[in-house]
Amino acid sequence: MTDFLEILRCPLCAGPLFRADGCLRCADGHSYDPARAGYVNLLPPGRKNNAKTGDEREMIRARSEFLRCGFYDPIDEALSADLSSVLPQADADAPLRVCDMGAGEGYHTCKSTALLAEKTGRHVDVYGFDASKSGAEAGCRLAKALGFLPKEGIAAPMEAWNPDSPVRAAVLPGNLFHLPVADASMHAALSLFAPVAWEEAARVLSPGGVLAVVSAGREHLLAMRAVLYDEVRLTDFHPAPPEDFSGFTLLGRRTVDFPVTLSSQDEIAALFMMTPFWHRTGDAGRARLASLDRLAVTASAEISLWEAHPCSSPS
Ligand SMILES: C[S@@+](CC[C@H](N)C(=O)[O-])C[C@H]1O[C@@H](n2cnc3c(N)ncnc32)[C@H](O)[C@@H]1O
Ligand SMILES: [Zn+2]
Repeated sequence: MTDFLEILRCPLCAGPLFRADGCLRCADGHSYDPARAGYVNLLPPGRKNNAKTGDEREMIRARSEFLRCGFYDPIDEALSADLSSVLPQADADAPLRVCDMGAGEGYHTCKSTALLAEKTGRHVDVYGFDASKSGAEAGCRLAKALGFLPKEGIAAPMEAWNPDSPVRAAVLPGNLFHLPVADASMHAALSLFAPVAWEEAARVLSPGGVLAVVSAGREHLLAMRAVLYDEVRLTDFHPAPPEDFSGFTLLGRRTVDFPVTLSSQDEIAALFMMTPFWHRTGDAGRARLASLDRLAVTASAEISLWEAHPCSSPS
């Protein structure tokens, strides 16, 4: 069994990290203590997001509960199916290494890779990174509950990791624009409803590796938007790398539509909180949504797959 930590890098000097006295260290003496939740904070010092506001915790809790009801599982199904059909077959005995850039509370991180392991018959090592410590906390809790992470957390000795688990997973505080992982170390990178760091994804992917970007489709949650706003404008948005960046070739793009029937105000509020509408809706729209106890919406997710161009790989 390869060491799960093998590809992690110090966010300060980019040196390899190793276990020492229960924490992670690099050869330059930078040291990272494990948090009780099981993660190690790899956000560069000074840019740490130490916010632990009640609001943020409440939001993470609502999102976790919503996702665990399986409402968005069609995304994980489609994403894992698409990825399994394009990932390189070489080195099939080694685990597939995947990073989730902006993993939130780790639900899709764990769910999509569990399905990927099932579909490919391969073990998957997945590293989720998010700027939010509360997200990482929830992600590690979920990974532990699924048996993907040892109870002692990421700094646990290798023997503590379950060799039979199809997936090994951890969600760590980290900046998706400066991932604390080695160059060319990943077979796949995921970006779900998060800022897309194209150049960073190209750096961490091995040649032929695939970046999967999931974004909101044109008519995503239209019925909810119709409640929130007097006028709904439909705009097409298709994520793509900057024009002067030749690091990726588009392999394919498709939209997955599926119904989501919300049958309580709690479920409606949880979904609302997960959307960008949460920040940009006025009082009247909020009040209209808060008066509902049932809402049927169609979720629409665009999945685009991008192959890392061999020429762009770091030497
Ligand atoms: C809309 S959420 C999506 C979370 C998750 N991928 C999902 O689909 O449930 C976007 C996430 O991106 C994270 N994020 C934004 N900028 C980031 C950065 N520079 N580094 C790491 N995470 C970031 C946020 O903290 C947030 O959790
Ligand atoms: Zn270091």
